Amino acid sequence: MSHPAAGEGAQRLCDARALEERGRAWVWDVLELGRPLRAFALRFDGRVRAYLNRCGHVPAEMDWQPGEFLDIDKRWILCSIHGAAYEPADGRCVGGPCGTGDLTAVRVEEREGQVYWYPSRDIQPLRTDAPVPESTP
Ligand code: FES
Repeated sequence: MSHPAAGEGAQRLCDARALEERGRAWVWDVLELGRPLRAFALRFDGRVRAYLNRCGHVPAEMDWQPGEFLDIDKRWILCSIHGAAYEPADGRCVGGPCGTGDLTAVRVEEREGQVYWYPSRDIQPLRTDAPVPESTP
């Protein structure tokens, strides 16, 4: 549901305190072009950043454990499958097999102790009142 206090189209994501610096990410479901997938938000250098949970190498989810995306030094987003590394600040591929496959950013904003995300033309909230579309091969 859109949240009028946070601006047009804003979707409440979580309490800002739920995102600790370089801690566990908040993972949620979205639709991209009508297909369900997950997104994640984490705090890095004080700012909340969010991306689709889809590696630039192979379109697979990247977390090591649910919500755990960072490497052991908490410096890079590291894909658990083949080790592609991304810059948490902008989702850019910085090493490993992602090549030019950067992460897809989701716009987020922190306001008055809450974190909101903003749907785009391609990335929409998962409607709980609508049937989940069947995936096609
Ligand atoms: S699927 Fe992420 S590095 Fe291969």
